[in-house]
Amino acid sequence: MSAYFEWLDTFSVNVPSVDEDHKVLIALVNEVVTGIQEHRGRAIMNDALSRLIEYTGYHFDREERVMEQHRFPELEAHRAQHNSLIRQVLRFQRLYRANELEPVELGEFLIDWLTTHILHEDMKLGLHIARQSVA
Ligand SMILES: [Fe+2]
Repeated sequence: MSAYFEWLDTFSVNVPSVDEDHKVLIALVNEVVTGIQEHRGRAIMNDALSRLIEYTGYHFDREERVMEQHRFPELEAHRAQHNSLIRQVLRFQRLYRANELEPVELGEFLIDWLTTHILHEDMKLGLHIARQSVA
């Protein structure tokens, strides 16, 4: 697991509200990852994880509204991915709470969960908007 997971300009989807939310999500994932590395107590970790999941729900709604405004053609598929990402993170939260998951596995999952979606999926929104503005 990398020491610190940080925002990189290559993550930008060129939509300020989405980028700002992604920075918050990265900070929240970092809080969990740092907590794992520093062996913080379970109550603190559960709290950090709950805040991450709560913000994720808020962010996905907001991102989907931006997609609606820009008539993003893949909105329905993207919404389904968001629902699947929420189900995945809730499953990892359940496993973590039940002590059925090594903390390091939780950290690795969260970093991959967020970066894969931003880099491969949210990026399509940025490209769509860029194409709209030159049309
Ligand atoms: Fe997304």
